[in-house]
Amino acid sequence: MSSRPAIQAPSDPGRLPMTLPLLLEKKRLGEPIVMVTAYDYPSARAAEAAGVDLVLVGDSAATTVLGYSATTPVELDDMLVLARAARRGLRTPLLIGDLPFGSYEVSDEQAITTAMRMVKEAGCDVVKLEGGGEASVKRARAIVGAGIPVMGHVGLTPQTATALGGWKAQGRTAAAAARIAAEALALQEAGCFALVFEAIPSAVTEELMARLEIPVIGIGAGPATDGQVLVFHDLLGIYDGHAPRFAKRYGDVREQMVAGVAAYAADVRGGSFPAPEHTYSIDDDELRAFEAGLDEAP
Ligand code: KIV
Repeated sequence: MSSRPAIQAPSDPGRLPMTLPLLLEKKRLGEPIVMVTAYDYPSARAAEAAGVDLVLVGDSAATTVLGYSATTPVELDDMLVLARAARRGLRTPLLIGDLPFGSYEVSDEQAITTAMRMVKEAGCDVVKLEGGGEASVKRARAIVGAGIPVMGHVGLTPQTATALGGWKAQGRTAAAAARIAAEALALQEAGCFALVFEAIPSAVTEELMARLEIPVIGIGAGPATDGQVLVFHDLLGIYDGHAPRFAKRYGDVREQMVAGVAAYAADVRGGSFPAPEHTYSIDDDELRAFEAGLDEAP
């Protein structure tokens, strides 16, 4: 570990907004890049205060926030609402808007239109799309060509999890690993500024890192990537649904939420809330005048 000061110290009040050149510089210097998802104003404020580099308004919102059992049902309009809220809570991290399933696959025009809405209507700095097959690479190239930076996403791509055989690690055979390698290189060649590697064996990631010039952010892809991303609700223990093995927990916020609401319910039922300090007063004279007015009313 070097003693050189980080180019973007998390607690620095003069911290500069994250840019693509700064991101590349972090990769060059070997400074780990920190990315987290956020879906609303308070989660974005937490990410800002914690000094993360990249914030993704992920389509994981479909499961963590909207209660669906997969990411496919979330609509572009839902994503725009969530991204706008996150935008209002951020100053320094680069804001990445995830393109939801069905909003970019149909044509290059559809992909560009969707990406532009994410930027114009929600204030996203860049967008992310899933997959490294021929169509996804073409869409990525088209969006980059329209002037919007794109982050690619290979390995486990939840929008197409059914086609991949379920929510499971990818690239565990030589052929499957070679396919991920080809997809990652194609997305890089298409102009993506960075990639997400999801649920890929660490040894495969290591091999690929030597061949990629753009920053790679891993989730379940081992320690060799340039940075890591976790889903906000997984890392804080807010979501009580299934958490994948790579989702390390740094909090138990759900337990605190349930305990807080249960304590409130008990206070209401037991008559100890509200207490005098939670109430407003009125001058005695004003109260008497009010009572007299009520008595005189027909
Ligand atoms: O939607 C999401 O949260 C993601 C991350 C897991 C990278 O795509």
